[in-house]
Amino acid sequence: MSEGTTSDTLAIEASGLVKVFGETRAVDGVDLAVPPGTVYGVLGPNGAGKTTTVKTLATLLRPDGGEARIFGHDVVRQADDVRSRVSLTGQYASLDEDLTGVENLVLLARLLGHGKPGARRRAGDLLDAFGLADAADRQVKNYSGGMRRRIDIAASILNTPELLFLDEPTTGLDPRSRNQVWDIVRAVVAQGTTVLLTTQYLEEADQLAQRIAVIDHGRVIAEGTPGGLKSSIGAGSVHVRLRDPRQRTEAGQVLTRELAAQVQLDADPVALTARIADGGDERGAALRASRALGQLAEHGITVDDFSLGQPSLDEVFLALTDTDRKGAAV
Ligand SMILES: Nc1ncnc2c1ncn2[C@@H]1O[C@H](COP(=O)(O)OP(=O)(O)OP(=O)(O)O)[C@@H](O)[C@H]1O
Ligand SMILES: [Mg+2]
Repeated sequence: MSEGTTSDTLAIEASGLVKVFGETRAVDGVDLAVPPGTVYGVLGPNGAGKTTTVKTLATLLRPDGGEARIFGHDVVRQADDVRSRVSLTGQYASLDEDLTGVENLVLLARLLGHGKPGARRRAGDLLDAFGLADAADRQVKNYSGGMRRRIDIAASILNTPELLFLDEPTTGLDPRSRNQVWDIVRAVVAQGTTVLLTTQYLEEADQLAQRIAVIDHGRVIAEGTPGGLKSSIGAGSVHVRLRDPRQRTEAGQVLTRELAAQVQLDADPVALTARIADGGDERGAALRASRALGQLAEHGITVDDFSLGQPSLDEVFLALTDTDRKGAAV
């Protein structure tokens, strides 16, 4: 059987992948097909099986069932071939806290086979590129969360990997640091690296990924492009902001009735979101939304702000994942 890499070889091809920990089926039959040169998002709530999936694909865990290939190489039988092609930035990455940024990168580059001058040069280039030049001589334990995440990614691309696993690269980062990490991911992909990114942030997947798999309880529950996933859950979302929070319950009832839609109470006490079910064209959704708005007025409910749009990926996520994690429904 030929194991050669051809242009149409998938970067990741998993079928029926299973990983069990005692009673927990952390990964429970995952199928994935990731084309090379793309960013693929794996999206799921806490405990969905994201890290376990990534570790299995990166050969850090041995699967208990199914199979997976990385650029055509089997993760069990050809683990060395896989390891030479992948790099993993973990949720809890392992740099030496007591070493400085530059010491860490030089050390790792030396371990990867760079000569001393080459290692210094690569470390310096990456620290510059990641905006860490000023922090190069500080101990990593004194880095902020954002700096830490950036140096983790820098460490994982000292040698340009064919496939980079980024496990929740921006969890806990502020919006500015998150944007910096996104730019880094885009730059890495522009160099030809395929990226598999796990995240709990829908916006992140929307920004970066060409395709997304939504996983929950170790299974892929939806897969597609960000746009395709959004349109799969309905014709649109109506967002309403009321003048008076005391009218929200009644407004929810009116919208539920008029739109035959599931209405969600947002965290903001005057805001509601209603998902309009599919079953008509865009005009149909707009017409129903405007009628609902009229009904709110007839009930004496003052609306300060109103919009109709495509569902956000957050709404897709809530619609797809467990009902017990949904916001309050009317
Ligand atoms: N080494 C382990 N031993 C036992 N159970 C484990 C182990 N690793 C993971 N699990 C369990 O497997 C399930 C999936 O965990 P995993 O870490 O893959 O989820 P995740 O999607 O990465 O979650 P998070 O968003 O919190 O990082 C969880 O129920 C977890 O408790
Ligand atoms: Mg995880």
